[in-house]
Amino acid sequence: MAACADILLARGKPCRNLKEAAETFRAPVDYAAVFQRDGAVELEVGCGNGGFIAALARREPNKNFLAVELCTNVVLTAMERIRKEGIPNVRFLNIPAEILQCYIPPHSVERIYLNFSTPLPEAGREKQRLTSDRFLAIYKTLLKEGGEIVQKTDSVPFFEYSMRKLRENAFVVQDVTYDLHASEYAAENIVTEYEHNFSQKGIPICRLRAVYKGEGA
Ligand SMILES: C[S@@+](CC[C@H](N)C(=O)[O-])C[C@H]1O[C@@H](n2cnc3c(N)ncnc32)[C@H](O)[C@@H]1O
Repeated sequence: MAACADILLARGKPCRNLKEAAETFRAPVDYAAVFQRDGAVELEVGCGNGGFIAALARREPNKNFLAVELCTNVVLTAMERIRKEGIPNVRFLNIPAEILQCYIPPHSVERIYLNFSTPLPEAGREKQRLTSDRFLAIYKTLLKEGGEIVQKTDSVPFFEYSMRKLRENAFVVQDVTYDLHASEYAAENIVTEYEHNFSQKGIPICRLRAVYKGEGA
């Protein structure tokens, strides 16, 4: 962890109570200082081992990327990958997405990637789904007007739940496919670790883009 300290912007929880942290703690990332330049900022929530963000950052060298991951062992693997490959435009936050607004300046993000977030189908766990009202309210405070969420999942029920929640929360859902790899979006797609495993089993991948038009829209 110490060897990757310069690419890790935040770690853990600022206080025990997540709700209190989300409401009161602010330590906004200074993009100019961190990336040493201007440029669009994109965010992946639940980056796992970092294969997706590494490939995206190589493909888009003029953009700046933030990768958020709850699990410390997993984010360590992702950071080591970025360090080993010498990719300059990715930084990490080892925090729960519940407190993103503590670190991400308001309306500063152009795109949020939600790749294979855990579907959590149990009714009692809805609040933990990364496309529940609770998280969409957070993303809306981070996204620029006209910013967007790109979601991929193998779970059709979770996909349809997400579409419903996005529409209820002032997002315009477009570019929807229930079989990404057979779609017109396949050529630009970067396959994530989970996506690779699901595809190997013959499971089709769902994908959408949801544009946030702002509260006044
Ligand atoms: C199913 S994995 C997908 C990993 C990767 N995106 C992929 O497609 O291969 C979901 C990841 O999201 C992370 N995660 C789940 N809930 C989270 C939260 N509330 N905040 C941050 N990360 C979270 C998990 O630790 C896990 O690494």
